[in-house]
Amino acid sequence: MENKQPTFLELLLEAHIGLERQGPGSRKTVEKALGFLGDLSRIEKTVDLGCGTGGQTLILAEHLSGSIVGLDMFPAFVDVLNSKAKSRNLDDRVKGIEGNMEDLPFEKNSLDLIWSEGAIDNIGFEKGLRHWREFLKNGGHIAVTSPSWLTKEHPQDAERFWAEAGSGLDTVEKNIGIMQSCGYQFVSAFALPEECWTENYYYPREKAICELVKKYDSCDTVREYAEMNRREVGLYLEYKQHYGYVFYIGRAV
Ligand SMILES: C[S@@+](CC[C@H](N)C(=O)[O-])C[C@H]1O[C@@H](n2cnc3c(N)ncnc32)[C@H](O)[C@@H]1O
Repeated sequence: MENKQPTFLELLLEAHIGLERQGPGSRKTVEKALGFLGDLSRIEKTVDLGCGTGGQTLILAEHLSGSIVGLDMFPAFVDVLNSKAKSRNLDDRVKGIEGNMEDLPFEKNSLDLIWSEGAIDNIGFEKGLRHWREFLKNGGHIAVTSPSWLTKEHPQDAERFWAEAGSGLDTVEKNIGIMQSCGYQFVSAFALPEECWTENYYYPREKAICELVKKYDSCDTVREYAEMNRREVGLYLEYKQHYGYVFYIGRAV
């Protein structure tokens, strides 16, 4: 048991740093999205924005032979990616850097592929797509996941949750239109299956949160943090037919 009272941010980092992923996703969906990009051997420069500890970055590295830069705002996540890349002898072409998705440190028109899972909604789907377009070569690809409405019905509880989280949801059709208006040809979109949320993210996260509750036994912040996370899972299980993460794949034109 620890006496120190951690902040929400510290708890978020501690709960997530040991997880394979920091948001919904899977090997299968990474590979499915890659399948829409055509000849992978021509992809020389990739960036993975909001890479977290790099679960998907390292899967990309198995399929792409060029360089991959993972960018995230949390240096602790970036350090995990870099040490995993090193232990797999990938550090000559896979590198994590600290940075801000709203202000990318890359050369304009220099990238073949921009990848981003579970992160663009932090800055806004349209804002992200518009800013990132400048860094892609013409003909380069973007592959991003973003939480989206999957049905016409938008249950109030879910709508409120996502609005409070700072990213109101749009429908898949609306997001495809946004993608086209930001300088991309629409290539494909598909919803992530349920296990991306549950087995690959919520269940391991719940295990980590149980450890935190044990570690910070008497701390109200931890209890609040655990409750907040559990409400989020409950909401997903109740309304999963209405919303989900959707992979959007586009080509810069
Ligand atoms: C839901 S997690 C997804 C992580 C990883 N892509 C995955 O799918 O497992 C979102 C990530 O985006 C990062 N992030 C959020 N806002 C950011 C910003 N403005 N610039 C850089 N990274 C950001 C967070 O630190 C976090 O690692």
